[in-house]
Amino acid sequence: MRNFKFYNPTKMVFGKDTISSIGQHVSSYGITKVLLLYGKGSIFKNGVYDTVISSLKDNNIQYVEVTGVKANPVVSKVREAINIMRENDTEAIIAIGGGSVIDSAKAASAGFYYNGDVWDFFGKREEVKRALPIFTILTISATGSEMNSGGVITNEEEKKKWSFGSPLLYPVVSILDPSIQSSLPPIQTANGAIDALSHVFELYFGGTDKTDMMDELSEGIIRTIIKHTPILLKDPENYDSRSELAWCATLALNGINGTGRVGDWASHSIEHSVSVLNDIAHGSGLAIVMPAWMKYVQNKAVDKFARFGEKVFNITEGSKEEIGLQAIEKLREFYKSLGAPITLKESGVKKEEIDFIANNAAMLEPLGTLMPLYKEDITKILEIAFE
Ligand code: NZQ
Ligand code: ZN
Repeated sequence: MRNFKFYNPTKMVFGKDTISSIGQHVSSYGITKVLLLYGKGSIFKNGVYDTVISSLKDNNIQYVEVTGVKANPVVSKVREAINIMRENDTEAIIAIGGGSVIDSAKAASAGFYYNGDVWDFFGKREEVKRALPIFTILTISATGSEMNSGGVITNEEEKKKWSFGSPLLYPVVSILDPSIQSSLPPIQTANGAIDALSHVFELYFGGTDKTDMMDELSEGIIRTIIKHTPILLKDPENYDSRSELAWCATLALNGINGTGRVGDWASHSIEHSVSVLNDIAHGSGLAIVMPAWMKYVQNKAVDKFARFGEKVFNITEGSKEEIGLQAIEKLREFYKSLGAPITLKESGVKKEEIDFIANNAAMLEPLGTLMPLYKEDITKILEIAFE
């Protein structure tokens, strides 16, 4: 195990009928005026918006709204939110939605006090020195953004989907009521599960050895997601399975799962470049890219991939290498069974676009820790992912 510091100040409020407590939580910090930030309208259909508004009114909290945050959120919307917050002297942000809304809230919260352009925080060019408090109401379990300090935003003009982070950006309070996720379309539930699994894989296969307890934790999260996601596709209102998937997704990327080891994150960088090109959902992109990455690097961690095959899919027949390769194939089959695309071709990417994606991802090269990847490696992974 590596040395580590673990810090996570987010208060998690988890469970049924918890959203109506948002006003009290905000009020307990002495905050009287907030920005409400949300997406394209799902919160009107499932009643979350009304619950939040009535809780804010009950607690005498004023609000202004910025709506229309898109999946794969863009920096222009973040700039719009910063302007509205400055004009209205808001004291905090309530993000209602998934990773796209929460990440936009994080960027807006950092940009609020900053004199330059908010994009300066991306690519590690500027450090966040001060930020507005963020409260979140999570409506789709996937990214872990509700309990971590990072965000990912697309600069649509520069065609870059990059991440940023700061310890100042942990949400103060996150409310997670799994029952409201029953309004998700099946493919969004699947995307969330795949993203959460991918976060575990990035850490599990990052190349740090002697992390037995953390590996057991990872395998537990993986098995739980594989067990409960198919149940939700048949029975979206199953609260027990919603809760299991939701807490798995949070634990996958709230820091605890990264303790004592490093994460690889090459697949995430490559997927972000796929999304820049064709605006595919992050989880769907990972269903394509991550197994291709696994095939490419499997011989760098033969024991670990074999352990994965044995502990997650109960594969015992064959050499370690064969068990690992079978496990990767099983994972692809699982993604297919969830309705996710498993090739770039299926998702609409053309063969001649591989070069654009590889160049875009290679801006941050070398990628990864298990095996440092350069443009030629990224190209080969994309070729494996193509069909
Ligand atoms: O916009 P609305 O109408 O709300 O619809 C959303 C959106 O279309 C819909 N949705 C959310 N909750 C719903 C619902 N529909 C019905 N019922 C509900 N209860 O779901 C769609 C996807 O939402 P989005 O926020 O984009 O999903 P997700 O949470 O997967 O976030 C993805 C973004 O987060 C980034 C990804 O790259 C991507 O941009 N990531 C953020 C990370 C982080 N901050 O730590 C790490 C991740 O690896 C990831 O990169
Ligand atoms: Zn992810």
